[in-house]
Amino acid sequence: MSDPILTVHNLQKKYGDHEVVKGISFSVKEGEVFGLLGPNGAGKTQTISMLTGVVEPTDGTAVIGGCDIRKQMGEAKKINGLVPQDLALYPTLSARANLNFFGRIYGLRGKDLKERVEDVLRVVSLADRADEPIENYSGGMKRRVNIAAGLVHQPRLLFLDEPTVGVDPQSRNHIFESVQRLNRERGMSIVYTSHYMEEVEMLCDRVAIIDNGEIIALDTIPNLIAILGGGVIHVGLHQADETLLAQIRALPSVKQAALAPQSIAPLPDGDGAASPTAHPIVKVEARKSQETLVELLRFFNECDIQVASLKILEPNLENVFLHLTGKKLRE
Ligand SMILES: Nc1ncnc2c1ncn2[C@@H]1O[C@H](COP(=O)(O)OP(=O)(O)O)[C@@H](O)[C@H]1O
Ligand SMILES: [Mg+2]
Repeated sequence: MSDPILTVHNLQKKYGDHEVVKGISFSVKEGEVFGLLGPNGAGKTQTISMLTGVVEPTDGTAVIGGCDIRKQMGEAKKINGLVPQDLALYPTLSARANLNFFGRIYGLRGKDLKERVEDVLRVVSLADRADEPIENYSGGMKRRVNIAAGLVHQPRLLFLDEPTVGVDPQSRNHIFESVQRLNRERGMSIVYTSHYMEEVEMLCDRVAIIDNGEIIALDTIPNLIAILGGGVIHVGLHQADETLLAQIRALPSVKQAALAPQSIAPLPDGDGAASPTAHPIVKVEARKSQETLVELLRFFNECDIQVASLKILEPNLENVFLHLTGKKLRE
């Protein structure tokens, strides 16, 4: 098996006393689409910025294609491409002219430059509108030019930082297709950051879940979802004490039961408006969610305990995050 294309060793970033990336380590295999999933402010952009030489690490390092970023950033930059959320494009120039400019920065000239620019325009499906000035483009089309700019020097590893934020649905689909094609047809390794679990579930082979500058879980998507085990049920009660929790734990199909931090609950119904709850929430880890649900309801009924709310967490990354942190990915 080939060496990882990227190995991150205890990478850290501090601003004064504020530690925004807390010594993280992970590696990305050649040919892999690797996700960095976390809420706003988790440290995704700071991590990618250190790996691509935009900001200096406070401590730790990384090796990209055999090059140590603390010693050989110039070499590392030839191997990787960065697609930041915002890239300065010349608004009055066409996509083709902008890409020619980026290609020249990488030392491309003449026929090579022309071939590379035409290739990346095709990758992002902008070849037919490549001569219009960028200022006529939608936000999504501009983002696709950013992606093309990150590809012009044929990197082996591409960093995409939340490429779909603020993008129209059509461009979003183009972006997903480009990512999948680059990976499958050209074997490009990709690091994809997002706070949308759907995107990461669809595109990524493995995912690091990042919160507060730390990786709190890292695995394939099925293995991450397996953290939820036989299912998790959140039960809102009017009161809950240790005795009651012990009784719940004693039910045959219950694996674990604990009080959720008061702040989480009344579990969002999709519109994201989680208001503080007045009642405690018991997080029940089930051996088999269906069976556990029946047992729980029978138990509450027999004890004459009123249930204020009930939610079975679907097995997805959003709920893995909720389960691990007590927070939602998107506030
Ligand atoms: N130049 C800076 N100075 C101080 N703090 C910063 C700076 N840049 C980012 N941060 C802080 O670092 C944390 C992580 O930011 P960032 O990596 O941009 O998060 P994400 O990309 O996951 O949304 C945030 O708390 C942010 O406020
Ligand atoms: Mg960011």
